[in-house]
Amino acid sequence: MKKYILALDQGTTSSRSIIYDRKGNTVSVAQMEFRQYYPHEGWVEHDPNEIWTTQMTVAHEALLKAGLTWENIEAVGITNQRETAVVWDKVSGEPVCRAIVWQCRRTAGYCDELAEDKALVERIRSRTGLLLDAYFSATKLRWVLENVPGARGRAEAGELLFGTVETWLIWKMTGGRVHVTDYSNASRTMLFNIHDLCWDEEILKIMDIPKCMLPEPVPSSCVYGETMPELFGGPVPIAGAAGDQQAALFGQTCFSPGEAKSTYGTGNFLLMNTGKTPVKSGNGLLTTIAWGLDAGGPVEYALEGSVFVCGAAIQWLRDELDILDDAAESERMAMSVPDSAGIYVVPAFVGLGAPYWDPYARGSIFGITRGAGKNHLVRATLESMAFQCYDLLGAMSRDMGEKLPALKVDGGACANNYLMQFQADILGCEVLRPACIETTSLGAAYLAGLATGYWQDQKDIRNNWQVDRVFAPQMSVSDREAKLAGWQEAVKRSRGWIR
Ligand code: G3P
Repeated sequence: MKKYILALDQGTTSSRSIIYDRKGNTVSVAQMEFRQYYPHEGWVEHDPNEIWTTQMTVAHEALLKAGLTWENIEAVGITNQRETAVVWDKVSGEPVCRAIVWQCRRTAGYCDELAEDKALVERIRSRTGLLLDAYFSATKLRWVLENVPGARGRAEAGELLFGTVETWLIWKMTGGRVHVTDYSNASRTMLFNIHDLCWDEEILKIMDIPKCMLPEPVPSSCVYGETMPELFGGPVPIAGAAGDQQAALFGQTCFSPGEAKSTYGTGNFLLMNTGKTPVKSGNGLLTTIAWGLDAGGPVEYALEGSVFVCGAAIQWLRDELDILDDAAESERMAMSVPDSAGIYVVPAFVGLGAPYWDPYARGSIFGITRGAGKNHLVRATLESMAFQCYDLLGAMSRDMGEKLPALKVDGGACANNYLMQFQADILGCEVLRPACIETTSLGAAYLAGLATGYWQDQKDIRNNWQVDRVFAPQMSVSDREAKLAGWQEAVKRSRGWIR
């Protein structure tokens, strides 16, 4: 019987399921958007039960479309929006409140209070690799314990469990039998010691988080358990999990130190593999675990630049401003005008991430003149994605002491040829788009398939990577510099807006 890998890609705005064959070809895809909750300014929430039901619906749909059953599935691999915090009752499985999404800024004030203790900031930095920020799970989990009636007492009594989204899905799929988090996701909680691979007792104490509610940290490629038979008709091993950005790095086969990728999803994330060495950034980047392949074995690290809003800005043009029907239209609209008419968009809807780390910045549009129209605005929004990636790459080059010769790209928005050409122009280096731009889910599939022997080793996987198109820089240096100067000024003016 022919076997495949089922990848579950639980993203910020949609749940996707993709079935892959041994060559890394997509056999079928199913996707479903789900509801975003914005209960207050700067807050973002998801319903964990909707995350679960949409993810299962698309998993069944992908199987159905491909005409496959559970018996054709060698293993399931999971990849997920990271940092998002879910807390649920151990017995009933009911979440105690909606999931607090990575983009949510509700704990920015608490982070400011903590940041007054400079020694603490440094301790968090050296142990977790992260900057003290509301982005990560720790302060979100603390918020739940402090604000949901009864939550702290129930957590201390061992009645509640915490997890990032892969933990929640694995727990649900195994019928509550397995409560684990993979190293890459654990490294985004701001509670995990990325050197010793364990929860950091001191940080837990400071944040007042009971350890008994935390999942067991495990490698990114290993059999965690089997799905409940009633889910797909029979048990299927769940054999891999990684945060979506680390999974994309794996899917792009960036296995060697120095290899990097940029993913254009809801946000934009630039990750460089730094091998067995965690590199500390002096330029606003994060040190994170890329993956751990073996139990107890060494993990590999990455340097990461995280931008909070990328494709989400196009969704905003579509859903809130109604100036396009779907994201794909943005390419035609941008190319229908000769330039962006001097407009700059800074999509700091939830503040700015790397390299600025300013939770008080807000989205801004500069340089609007009477002749500016919706096509210019769309073009300027696409350009903002490339500028943000430029900022990340600049920080990375300064940290590593060398410029990247070429950048591998993936994620939905990299299908946009206008954006990719502009990206190459602004970076002044080649942009390599692979044949499969679904590298996030492909990475999760690879991690699962490696654990069960579906793929022998990383060499086996590397052979699957193929280029679709190379975008070479064409813009003159003076044009590039003028555009970048405009961008830098726009960022400066949008900072500290809500202070
Ligand atoms: O850290 C947040 C990240 O995991 C979200 O990814 O794909 O939803 O932009 P994405």
